[in-house]
Amino acid sequence: MKALILAGGAGTRLRPITHTRAKQLVPVANTPILHYGIRSMVAAGITELGVIVGDTRDEVMADLGDGSQFGASITFIPQDEPLGLAHCVLIAHEFLGDDDFVMYLGDNLLEQDLQAFVDAFVTARRGDTPPSAQILLKEVADPQRFGIATLDDEGHVVHLVEKPADPPSNLALVGVYLFDREIHEAVAAIDPSERGELEITDAIQWLIDHGRRVRTEILTGWWIDTGKLTPLLEANRLILETLTARIDGSVDANSFIDGRVVIEAGAEIINSTIRGPVAIGPGTRIVDSFIGPFSAIGADCEVRHSEIEHSVVMERSKVLDIPRLEDSLIGSDAVVSRTKRKPRAIRLMVGDHCQIDVE
Ligand code: TTP
Repeated sequence: MKALILAGGAGTRLRPITHTRAKQLVPVANTPILHYGIRSMVAAGITELGVIVGDTRDEVMADLGDGSQFGASITFIPQDEPLGLAHCVLIAHEFLGDDDFVMYLGDNLLEQDLQAFVDAFVTARRGDTPPSAQILLKEVADPQRFGIATLDDEGHVVHLVEKPADPPSNLALVGVYLFDREIHEAVAAIDPSERGELEITDAIQWLIDHGRRVRTEILTGWWIDTGKLTPLLEANRLILETLTARIDGSVDANSFIDGRVVIEAGAEIINSTIRGPVAIGPGTRIVDSFIGPFSAIGADCEVRHSEIEHSVVMERSKVLDIPRLEDSLIGSDAVVSRTKRKPRAIRLMVGDHCQIDVE
């Protein structure tokens, strides 16, 4: 079994951050989103990984390297334009060959590990009526926003529809799929959709229409498509809650650490309160400040005379004299500072290398 991980795409919904970085490398609890998917793939015993890369290929390739840091081997597959999820399968045919594979959207995060999902497919493939594909479904409250499946009595898919105005069920497609080689015929046979993309839902519908079986598994744990600010902060919150508290940096006698807090080596906490769940990256200085629940401050940052809560601050950024920063995503090498002393809360999404001076 191989894996195809999708780390191209446009990332329009996460601008301005995605003007300068791959959305799959935005950190959640101080670790790039993409690393969680790769690690869960390796934990499920899949180590031959193909990674689709787009405009941000240099950054993704530099970050992942040859995959040995994860115990995997990685082949990069460049995609010149984001022409759709099924297009990714089309251009990965040579890498995938005739092998069964998992397709994983690189900006998705799942609570559950992938082992049981993969095992269920392998077992079903040994049965009398082997499925050609398996999709993972999750009950959602707002099915209008997702690809939605209709199932028969045995739990096989009969119909898929993208973002329906009148949803036939509340079962949404999660960004993890299993396929056998039949999918290559399907992606070659379909036409682009109205938005000009080769849709994976159309390719799976093609399989069904040509008499192939498509199994389903229902996901019980959380699943987040991190492609927008609010879900990204939610993913940060959920992952921070799973951390084991650890203090490797220095904390002075005037500081107070409370709850599930990770402070990496080389970080300094001076005259400050850190209330977990919080992660503080290596080399970061927190001075005369309060870092509140669900915040991740990256490596080599500086926070001075400020309060931060429910936010992600990326590496080498500075937050200075800000009375309260909440629900915010601050890119790397940014400076957020304030010159006049008027206390108020601010909410920001700040791109890499920006300088924001709040008056
Ligand atoms: P999406 O989030 O559906 O698309 P996008 O990245 O273009 O984002 P936006 O809608 O904000 O512009 O993509 C899901 C994942 O698949 C994501 O990790 C990007 C990746 N992808 C590709 O690698 N190639 C593609 O052609 C597409 C459409 C997505």
